[in-house]
Amino acid sequence: MTAASRRYHITTFGCQMNKADSERMAGILETMGFEWAEQPDDADLILYNTCTIRDSAEQKVYSHLGRQAIRKQTQPGLTLIMAGCVAQQEGEQLLRRVPELDLVMGPQHANRLQDLLEDVFNGNQVVATEALQIMEDITKPRRDSTVTAWVNVIYGCNERCTYCVVPNVRGVEQSRTPEAIRAEIEALAQQGFKEITLLGQNIDAYGRDLPGSTPEGRHQHTLTDLLYHIHDVPGIDRIRFATSHPRYFTERLIRACAELPKVCEHFHIPFQSGDNDILKAMARGYTHEKYRRIIDTIRHTMPDAAISADAIVGFPGETDAQFEHTLKLVEDIGFDLVNTAAYSPRPSTPAALWQNQLSEAVKRDRLQRINRLGSVKAMERSERYRNRVEEILVESQNTKDPTQVMGRTRSNRLTFFPGDITTMKGKLIHVKITQVRAFSLTGAEPLPTALTPAS
Ligand code: SAH
Ligand code: SF4
Ligand code: F3S
Repeated sequence: MTAASRRYHITTFGCQMNKADSERMAGILETMGFEWAEQPDDADLILYNTCTIRDSAEQKVYSHLGRQAIRKQTQPGLTLIMAGCVAQQEGEQLLRRVPELDLVMGPQHANRLQDLLEDVFNGNQVVATEALQIMEDITKPRRDSTVTAWVNVIYGCNERCTYCVVPNVRGVEQSRTPEAIRAEIEALAQQGFKEITLLGQNIDAYGRDLPGSTPEGRHQHTLTDLLYHIHDVPGIDRIRFATSHPRYFTERLIRACAELPKVCEHFHIPFQSGDNDILKAMARGYTHEKYRRIIDTIRHTMPDAAISADAIVGFPGETDAQFEHTLKLVEDIGFDLVNTAAYSPRPSTPAALWQNQLSEAVKRDRLQRINRLGSVKAMERSERYRNRVEEILVESQNTKDPTQVMGRTRSNRLTFFPGDITTMKGKLIHVKITQVRAFSLTGAEPLPTALTPAS
């Protein structure tokens, strides 16, 4: 079989980091001559980019993989790859569990896919999970969108939250240089991308591992400095960043976001719990008072800013009263969106070994309660858009209604409105919001003048 006739399929689980890695691995495969197959069953190479943040995420991949392992018994030419965080966590053991796998590769090895595959095509079963200095990516990612793009700026995590597998599977923090990041954004702008999202597990910890300080002794490479460094790339209209850790979110960063017009007023800052004892048991390194102060400062500086977050309910030992503190934080802040999860014990994390685990029934009940409150609050936040004119960056057609296009407000609310994708894609359009729902908006057909290019 020639390379040109080979087809690949990638299934991605998990977070934005995995999505970005998948786009880079797809780029590598296409450089090698592989073509995308819409259906996994039509592909000669199948790659699962996996997530292990919770047990339910980990289990998902095994059912997918099982099916393809059976297919491989009749189609020995099929190449099966397990990449990402489950691959890193399980390593060699995966080959015992699923002997049909050709390649098991951790997230730090994503950019090495071509080398690893050459080894596989030479007849080897390969496991690549050793800790690594991540290579600068030299291939062109195959990006899902032509309007918005992810840009990795820091890999890994140096925190030790007691519930979390990420430091085990993603390794220590590794920041890319400001020059490499800017070069990537300039290339994206030239290809016509309009919005970039800077990515990191703790994006505001960016640069700590890079050398350099100012004459006053301040570290020279912070996220704030990076925003100033990249802000003027021509052609890019919007800049976002995620995920922020409250421990590193500075006033200087907030001022920069207010000052730099392309930086969107949306901040994703997980709080995890609203109770100080639970935060301590989680080893988060802040109190709910500190978290509230950060949000107050953001809202003082940018009154309309959208705030989203992650929270965990049912952490070991969490009492009813402590859970109520989390609800109170959700109530008081009024988040635009809260991603919630019931605590899931993970391998090789401290909290998984504690004796004070809660029952599934208690966790389920708390999850329902926080989700109910979260939607009420999200709806309240959506109300403020009613009858307002919002700037929408158009990304694609509304998959459910082809007479509409889909885009986002600067605050990241998904917005649909009547329009033709061929003329509107990648454009910033001002739209009057006519209908609001908890997590999305609908706008009126824009005036024809809304389409005239800005001078
Ligand atoms: N670095 C980010 C989050 C990364 S993980 C931060 O520190 O905020 C994404 C989210 O998954 C976390 O915010 C947390 O809410 C959730 N999560 C992580 N481990 C979990 C676990 N063991 N059980 C349930 N949720 C978990
Ligand atoms: Fe996990 Fe904590 Fe690191 Fe976030 S900061 S990735 S929750 S260890
Ligand atoms: Fe999952 Fe790995 Fe991301 S565990 S959430 S894919 S860092």
